[in-house]
Amino acid sequence: MRLVVTGAGGMLGRALSRVLASAEVECLPYPSSALDVTDRRAVEEALRSERPDWVVHAAAFTRVDDCEGEQERAMAVNVEGTRHVAEAAAAVEARVLYVSTDYVFDGRKSAPYTEEDEPAPLNVYGRGKLGGERVLQKTLPDGRWVIVRSAWLYGEGGRNFVDRIIERSEAGQQLTVVDDQVGTPTWTVVVAWAIQVIVKAQLAGIYHVVSGGAASWFEVAEEILRLTGADVPLRPTTTATLGLPARRPGYSVLDTTKLQRETGIVPEAWQGALAAYLAERRLVAEPN
Ligand SMILES: NC(=O)c1ccc[n+]([C@@H]2O[C@H](COP(=O)([O-])OP(=O)(O)OC[C@H]3O[C@@H](n4cnc5c(N)ncnc54)[C@H](OP(=O)(O)O)[C@@H]3O)[C@@H](O)[C@H]2O)c1
Repeated sequence: MRLVVTGAGGMLGRALSRVLASAEVECLPYPSSALDVTDRRAVEEALRSERPDWVVHAAAFTRVDDCEGEQERAMAVNVEGTRHVAEAAAAVEARVLYVSTDYVFDGRKSAPYTEEDEPAPLNVYGRGKLGGERVLQKTLPDGRWVIVRSAWLYGEGGRNFVDRIIERSEAGQQLTVVDDQVGTPTWTVVVAWAIQVIVKAQLAGIYHVVSGGAASWFEVAEEILRLTGADVPLRPTTTATLGLPARRPGYSVLDTTKLQRETGIVPEAWQGALAAYLAERRLVAEPN
């Protein structure tokens, strides 16, 4: 099986290259320097020359707050870029797996979001990612596309909450973290693994893929400090106090029942995956 990965230099892209390399899949990684998805011709040429069975489309403009001020670019990459990938894939009869986000939801629910729940994004990033979902669904026949929605990703090779907390606590800084957004922190390796299973099983449709459980960002920070043994002050704040440009859902836990039923994958609780990530980075504190 031949599989092109867009955005391969990003956080999830790197985890995908790592997981797929050990999964008897021929992974053809395209970082942004090798393929700009806003360039329709370049996308067509890449897929025509590679003739992949699948395209895992992980490229995106992911800086949520910057998307508010750079709406045109956000839409060019996240909607039109996805259109280019979908059309070029259709032309060479490749399937597409598009990575999407919990930010397609408005957070008004108080129980985990299922694949059937109606999206209603609150910010430009979420609208662009939802636009990408819709383009994919319109361009490719049913059975030839997959949407994997994930959330709160951390991992090697990208700016993420977990690494920021580690950096700041190592520098001895006091931490102030919001306690009114609830979701599920998810290691990129967990998502990459599920993507590999979905692709190999030739599944189709929408899948929610996150670790188990739920937490506020404040609780995630608490757990990082506990695991690393860092001793810095941590205090809660609210989203309104931070006043960031992009609105965010207050609750965006994703329901993984469908993933569990159709793949047999039972996502481990987020605390376990976080501990594994920190152990890999040799950051887990030695017991006294
Ligand atoms: N991070 C999260 O919490 C999260 C949550 C849910 C879903 N997702 C989705 O997961 C996917 C992977 O995101 P990530 O977390 O790995 O973020 P990331 O590290 O920012 O990776 C995205 C990659 O896309 C590339 N890219 C940007 N514009 C491009 C373009 N025009 N053409 C080709 N590549 C381009 C970026 O390259 P440059 O760095 O060179 O611009 C980057 O390497 C995205 O679809 C994202 O929407 C992320």
